[in-house]
This record gives sequence, structure tokens and C-alpha cells, in this order.
Amino acid sequence: MKYNCLNSISKLGLERLTPAYESVADLKDAEVVFVRSAKMDELEVGAGLLSVARAGAGVNNIPHADYAKKGIVVFNTPGANANAVKELVIAMLLLASRDLLGGAKWVRDNSADENIGKTAEKAKKAFAGTEICGKTLGVVGLGAIGRLVVNAALGLGMKVTGYDPYLGVGAALALDPRVKVVGDLADLYSDSDFVTLHLPALPSTKGMVDAKAIAQMKQGAVLVNCARDLIVNEADVLAALEAGKLRKYVTDFATPGVAAHPGCLVLPHLGASTEEAEDNCAVMAVDETRNFVENGNIVNSVNYPAVSLGVAKAPGRIAVCHTGDSAVSAAVLAALGGAVAASASGVRGEVGYTLADLSAPATAAQVEAVKAVAGVIRARAVK
Ligand code: MLT
Repeated sequence: MKYNCLNSISKLGLERLTPAYESVADLKDAEVVFVRSAKMDELEVGAGLLSVARAGAGVNNIPHADYAKKGIVVFNTPGANANAVKELVIAMLLLASRDLLGGAKWVRDNSADENIGKTAEKAKKAFAGTEICGKTLGVVGLGAIGRLVVNAALGLGMKVTGYDPYLGVGAALALDPRVKVVGDLADLYSDSDFVTLHLPALPSTKGMVDAKAIAQMKQGAVLVNCARDLIVNEADVLAALEAGKLRKYVTDFATPGVAAHPGCLVLPHLGASTEEAEDNCAVMAVDETRNFVENGNIVNSVNYPAVSLGVAKAPGRIAVCHTGDSAVSAAVLAALGGAVAASASGVRGEVGYTLADLSAPATAAQVEAVKAVAGVIRARAVK
């Protein structure tokens, strides 16, 4: 199996690849790809590409909807870097509240002063701040990262208001009862001294923090964005900073508009840049890819349904990407006839996926018979 790493991926993950996996330099030759931040919509992939695994949560650098139509399964690694992002969010809350960076710069700038200890005592009032304990944090998005942020903030004595229209019953019940969960974002905005964003960049979330949203926030609120730059309307955020409506915009995404703005504190996308998160993401990306290649199972895909038959123990297994119609799955199984020992299938939007365990190793004729079924995008003999 030929693989290509579009970005460097932690050794701990790559070491989990067996000798059956061979690194190739040219993306067009790759059957599986590992990626972190390379923009894949600008890159040409080969016809043999089966899967892309993103070592991270966001997938806005991968044209996953187009890939789905071509039978390319895209995975991400939800939760694998959540702790790293949570820790950065807490650091951002503190950096927004106390001028620690300004104070540290003052010390460096005055390092030649032999009486720096004494001078510092006079200078320090310029860097005094406020505490986060007792303040309200609004957490927009209560997924893997948002939930960790909630717990850390509560642990630091903050009050927390949360919003997530997709919160499942189980996740809602697992939330700390001290969290005030609201069904209307306006209520979160009006409650919060700090608002932190933990949701993906989608057409539906693009620019959602705009002038209207900011108008609902408290005077002097701090906006924290470790999610994606596109979720905020940058012009509206800058206008709110100028007007004093927002006290600070702390973001992990550098753009020309915010980079040097005095109201912005900008980091170079460091959220997941810890050794631990990079290891976790790489391990998860490699394990998901191997499970897909060697068993045909799909777990944690962003463009195909979750379908698994467990470890491939039957003599044969065929994996089929098809259009999102369960009738296609039925036709695939019919084409395999009595050879099918077990099957599993699922549909997600416009695409579907069917796995069939066979009583004998899959033959080329069986794969061709499946490919001939109307609606089949790709069929592969797993074994
Ligand atoms: C993510 O989407 O999880 C992060 O952007 C990962 C990264 O920093 O590469």
C-alpha cells in the first residue's frame, strides 16, 4: 500500500505502519494520504487514492465532498488533540486578562538595568489585570474540545454557559450540572465575559460571529477563537474592537487584518502543536487508515458513513463505495449472491458504503460484478 505524508506526521504514528506500507514521494502515486494543514483542494491526486487521514479535527483543507463522489474516504481524529487546544484556550483567557506578554517584554527591554528589581516594582502597575475566577465563559460548541474547556473553566472558578444545537442526550447528561446550557446563542452572548468558539468551519458557520452577534455580547467582552478564522466576520470584529464593544480578540489564526492590530492577540495556529497532541493525532490517523485498508472498516470518517464488520476474519471481504441509496447496497449483495456470509452498510448524504464478508477469498470476477452495479463508485477486494 503506497502512502504519502503531505505534512510531517509524528514518528509514533508512522511506526505503526507495517512493511506492507511503502512511502511514495509523489502524491499522485499514493493510495493513502496523511495530512495536517496542506490545502488539498489545490493538489492533484491519483485515481488510485483510497483514503485521506487528517491528523487533526478540522477538515476545511480537504475537498471531502468531492472526494466522497470519487470514492475517497476522508478521516479525521476527533478528540486526539482536544487537551492541547483546551490548554491553549485557558492560556488565552489568562493572556487576555493580564498583560503577561507586555510585562515579560518590559523585563527583557530593561534587562541592562542593574536595579531592575526595584524599577520593576514601580513599572508593574502598567501590566496589572483582572482575574478569570468568577467571570462567565460562553462556550460555543460542546464537542470534544468544548467539553474539556468547560471543565477546566469550572475548575478555575468560572461560571460557564454552553451552546450546542447538536448536543446528544448522552453528552448533555455527561455535562457538569453547573453548566448553564442555552438553546439560543443570544443568551450565551449576553451572559458571557469571554466567548470561546469550538465548532467547525462550514458554510453554515462561516462568518457567524458578525456585527449582529457581537451586538448581543456584553460591553468589553473578550472573543477567543481557536476554531477557524472564517467563523468570525473579521471586519465586524475589528470594528467592534475600535468601538470598545470587544475588549480583545484572541485568536490562533494569523491574518493580515489581525496580525498587528493592538486589540488582537494572535498566535500562529499553535492549538494542536504539542508533542502529545501530535503523537495522539498521528497514532489515530494511522490506526484509522490501517483499519480501513486492512479490514475495510470506516470509523471517524467525515464524508462516509461509519460501517464496520470488525477484524476481517472470514476468508474474503469486499468493500464498496456507492451512491447514497440503500437499494444500491442491496443490489451489491445480490450481485455477490450466496457468497455473502455477513454484511454491513450505511448511507451518509449522497454516498453509501457496503462491506460484505465472503465464504472464500474475493475473486476479480466478483469485484467486476460489483463494479457493474449501477450506483457503485468503487469496489475493492479487502482479502
Ligand atoms: C485541528 O483541526 O484539530 C487543528 O487545526 C490541528 C492542527 O493544528 O493541525
